[in-house]
Amino acid sequence: MKKIVANFKMNKTNNEVKDYIMKLLPKYEKDKAEIVLCVPFTAITLSKFLLDGTGINIGAQNICDEDDGKSTGEICGSMIKNCGADYVIVGHSERRVKFKENGRIINKKIKLALKNRLKVILCIGETLAEKNTLKTNEVIKTQLEDALKGLYENELDNIVIAYEPIWAIGTGKTPLAKEIENTVKVIRKVVADDFSDKAGEKIEVLYGGSVDVKNIASFSKIKNINGMLVGGASLDADNFSQIIKNIR
Ligand code: PGA
Repeated sequence: MKKIVANFKMNKTNNEVKDYIMKLLPKYEKDKAEIVLCVPFTAITLSKFLLDGTGINIGAQNICDEDDGKSTGEICGSMIKNCGADYVIVGHSERRVKFKENGRIINKKIKLALKNRLKVILCIGETLAEKNTLKTNEVIKTQLEDALKGLYENELDNIVIAYEPIWAIGTGKTPLAKEIENTVKVIRKVVADDFSDKAGEKIEVLYGGSVDVKNIASFSKIKNINGMLVGGASLDADNFSQIIKNIR
């Protein structure tokens, strides 16, 4: 079954999340895809309450890279888990760029997420300049190796990689299916080289970046991906349920 992760980013008050879930639930076909809603921290508890028993999972969009309480304004893994989330997005490009999150910080966050029994959705991807200078494979390899440094192979069962070219996020521009397939091959090869062939085959890889109702059917035909990460197009419940419906 394909996995569809919705990233609400910094959108929706709790009232809006409640309306959204109420609209989504009657239209949601359980067997169509495995859904993870990554809501703002403020809406995790409410979402858990409303979604309990529906099969829809909840994710956070970030986690603190420290566990020691001396990080005013941050939220750590045990708090996220205790609110009812099972997933957390780590390394989204908006955080890498705006909040200067580098490979070392992302690696720390992943380890803390796993320690707190949270599954990680690790975002990686190249800029347009990197794509145009044919650096995509090199960038992907570095980002992956930095992020996964020091992990045991069995921990990869709790990691989902989201390939999100930065130039495709929120722009309406997307790579060709063949380009996605090729980059995902590179991702699987890096994991295979660093862990094992089996790990490279088994790891879940998603595509993200301007996924919408119109392109979901063609993206879902790409053979070596396990699903999609949807940002802007997930914000409207009707739209999102249509995306789920169109998945192949
Ligand atoms: P988008 O965002 O679907 O709006 O391009 C994807 C993301 O930021 O994860």
